[in-house]
Amino acid sequence: MSVIQIQGGRPLSGSVRIQGAKNSVLPLLAATLLSRGTCVLRNCPKLTDVDHTIDILRSLGCRVEREGDVVTVDSSAPTGHTISEPLMREMRSSVVFLGPILGRMGRAVISYPGGCELGPRPIDLHISALRTLGASITEREGRLDCEGSLTGGEIVLSIPSVGATENAMLSAVCAQGDTILHNAAREPEIVELQSFLNAMGARVRGGGTSTVTIRGGLPLHGAEHTVGPDRIVAATYLSALAASGGEGELTGVDWRQLSTVTAVLSEAGCTIRSGADQVWLSAPSRLRGARPVRTAPYPGFPTDAQAVVMAALCKGEGTTVFVENMFSSRYRHVDELVRMGADIRVEGKVAVVCGVKALHGAQVRATDLRGGAALAVAAVGAEGETCITGLRHIDRGYQSLCEDLSGLGARIVRLDTSTE
Ligand code: EPZ
Repeated sequence: MSVIQIQGGRPLSGSVRIQGAKNSVLPLLAATLLSRGTCVLRNCPKLTDVDHTIDILRSLGCRVEREGDVVTVDSSAPTGHTISEPLMREMRSSVVFLGPILGRMGRAVISYPGGCELGPRPIDLHISALRTLGASITEREGRLDCEGSLTGGEIVLSIPSVGATENAMLSAVCAQGDTILHNAAREPEIVELQSFLNAMGARVRGGGTSTVTIRGGLPLHGAEHTVGPDRIVAATYLSALAASGGEGELTGVDWRQLSTVTAVLSEAGCTIRSGADQVWLSAPSRLRGARPVRTAPYPGFPTDAQAVVMAALCKGEGTTVFVENMFSSRYRHVDELVRMGADIRVEGKVAVVCGVKALHGAQVRATDLRGGAALAVAAVGAEGETCITGLRHIDRGYQSLCEDLSGLGARIVRLDTSTE
């Protein structure tokens, strides 16, 4: 079993470059299936979710090579249209392959992605979007069987779902005719997917707004793209600097994608300055409580940053209320933070964080990706030693948590013991 050991209680200080965005690279890799040639993605983070996505592309007959942070995908002759159950179970976001497999192969069979540690993860919006474009989809024994040639249409999403927006875009480029997508997600990942599809020869407009238009049926060729920075990893490290009462700089980031997170940390007493591609934060020895933090679709406060910002505010002077509006079970990190001395009470989607003077080190376990990162944030600001297990969750989204936090001055080490 692997464990991360952190000696907390000392202000962090340093600089770190932010990795490529997990939530960008996954749909970008799915999009490479639509190319009749070879695509090159640069600044791909080394994550288990990326490994699993590459496994899916290979299982579909694509040739995929990885050289450092460069992934090359030759999808000139895909052979399959099914994603196996084990591969689907590894990563529920594989559902974003539904559109591209159907669009490229005329048929797609995946097992139902099922829930995960954040609660139920329905895909009704994905299914209704594909049906609007003419796909016939049957759900039988936990499998989704989709087939049919696609025709452009008008899709209205009842929720600005990131994944459903991506699936709709990835199938609409293969449809005959134009598609209009209403109430689309506006996350930066959508803008990035749009620019990659356009580099492949598609004609997608409106990415980043609620209305995206897609011209279907254009031939899609190979393209190159550099993956943008991971805004949630950036939010994690800003929270760690804040939790430790330190100061430091993140480079390779787009500060505009972090504005709702930096607003909360500023209100909590941090001084924050942003430049072209960096953000600098200096924290007081003790943070203040902030106004209620309500998670919302972009450009609102990101649900993925809820846990890490909460971890920083556990020692704030005063109370901060969190309202998690996006997922029904996204407070599983609270029990672990309480083991470190935090005073947090959860009532449904509300968590009330009463700031305590100090947190203390403890043995804690990551319950999900961002909940695990939150434990590291709390640990750098806690007195004494914290040991974190359940690292497979963290490895899904952080390519070098230990090295990055060490770069910010944390006393952190990863011990890979032999027994699982
Ligand atoms: C993406 O998940 C991200 N994952 C999540 O990040 C992120 O938390 C989420 O968007 C919200 O920002 C990736 O990009 C790989 P949604 P996704 O569809 O697309 C409901 C992380 O930590 N919904 O925008 O699955 C859903 O239940 C991960 O990096 C339906 O009801 O999220 C949720 O309440 C965690 N029906 C809300 O919409 C559907 O068909 C938003 O989900 C689809 C979604």
